[in-house]
Amino acid sequence: MATLKFLSIFIIYFAIVLGFVNSQGVEVGFYKKTCPNVEKIVKKAVVDYVSIAPTLAAPLLRMHFHDCFVRGCDGSVLLNSTKSNQAEKDAIANLSLRGFQVIDAAKSALEKQCPGVVSCADILALVARDAVSLINGPTWQVPLGRRDGRVSILSEATTNLPTPFDNFTTLKTRFGSLGLSVKDLVVLSGGHTLGVSHCFSFGSRMYNFTGKGDMDPNMDQKYIAQLKTKCKPNDVTTTVEMDPGSFKTFDTDYYTLVSKRRGLFVSDATLLTDKQTKAYVLAQLSSSGSTFFEDFGVSMVNMGKIGVLTEKSGEIRKKCAFIN
Ligand code: HEM
Repeated sequence: MATLKFLSIFIIYFAIVLGFVNSQGVEVGFYKKTCPNVEKIVKKAVVDYVSIAPTLAAPLLRMHFHDCFVRGCDGSVLLNSTKSNQAEKDAIANLSLRGFQVIDAAKSALEKQCPGVVSCADILALVARDAVSLINGPTWQVPLGRRDGRVSILSEATTNLPTPFDNFTTLKTRFGSLGLSVKDLVVLSGGHTLGVSHCFSFGSRMYNFTGKGDMDPNMDQKYIAQLKTKCKPNDVTTTVEMDPGSFKTFDTDYYTLVSKRRGLFVSDATLLTDKQTKAYVLAQLSSSGSTFFEDFGVSMVNMGKIGVLTEKSGEIRKKCAFIN
C-alpha cells in the first residue's frame, strides 16, 4: 500500500515536472486547437511568392537565422526602426534581407482566420522551412509556440551576427554560446548553397588580405582570378552567386565548393581548419551518400529553439513590423 502511494506521488510529481519542462519550450502542433490551418496558410503565402521568385528562398532562410542569433527567435529582425530607436533591420548585415512581404502576407492571412494567435517568430520559422523545401531542399517538422519580442536594437545585430571574416574559434564560440554545436555550425553553413553575396563580403580575400594588396592563400587562386572579373576593388553593388550554377536550388554543392577552396567567405574556408568540420565537409562528397538534408532539418530545429519567448513573455504581434 505504502509502495503504491509512493509510486502515485512519484508519477504525479514526474507529470508535473515534465509538463513544466515542456511548457517552457516549443512543440510541434502547438496551434492544433487555436489555429489548425496555420501550416497550410503559411505554405500558401510561400508558394504564392517563391514559385514566382525562387531567389526569395535564400533571404527568407537567412532572415530566420538572423532573427534567432539576435535576442533569440523572437521576430525582432522584423521590427521597423522608430524615431527614437534603430532596429536590427538597419544593421549592415540585414540590409540585404528581402522577402518581408511574404511574412506580411502570411501574417495577414493568419490574422483573418485566427486573430492574435500566431506569432511572427513562428511564421519566420515556418517560412524558412517551406522556402527551403519548395526549392528541392529537405523538409522537417517545426516546433511552434514562440512569442514575439518587443525590443530590436541595431547594435545587437552588429555584435551578435557572425561575420564573413570570422575564423573557426570565433564561430565555435558564437554558436556555442547560443547552445549550438560544431556540427550545427558546419551543417547550417550549408545554407550557403543558396543565394548571392555582395563582393564586399569577401573583397579583402581578393584584393587586400593582409593589408598589402595580397590575396587569401586559402582560396583557390584561379577562382579568385575569376571572381575579380566580376568584383572590382571596393565594389559595393555587385553580387555573385555563392553556389554558381545552382544558387536557386538547395543541394550539397556547398561542400564541394568548400572542399575545393571555393567557399566565398573566410567563415566558409575555416571549416577546413578543424578536424571535425573538415571531416563533415568531405563526408558529404563521399560515394556513400550525403547526410546533409537530414542533418539540415535537425540543425534548423536546434537553431529555432534559441532564446525563445513562451508562455506569458512577449506578445503576439498584430503586424510583424510593429510592436502592439
Ligand atoms: C556561419 C556563419 C555565417 C556567416 C559568417 C554568414 C555570412 C553571410 C554573408 C556575408 C552573406 C552575404 C551577404 C551579402 O553580401 O549580401 C550570407 C548570405 C547568405 N547566408 Fe550566411 N552566414 C552564416 C551562416 C548562415 C546560416 C546559418 C544560414 C542559414 C541556415 C545562412 C544563410 C545564408 C543565405 C541563404 C545567404 C544568401 C542570401 C541572399 O541570397 O540574399 N548563413 N551569409
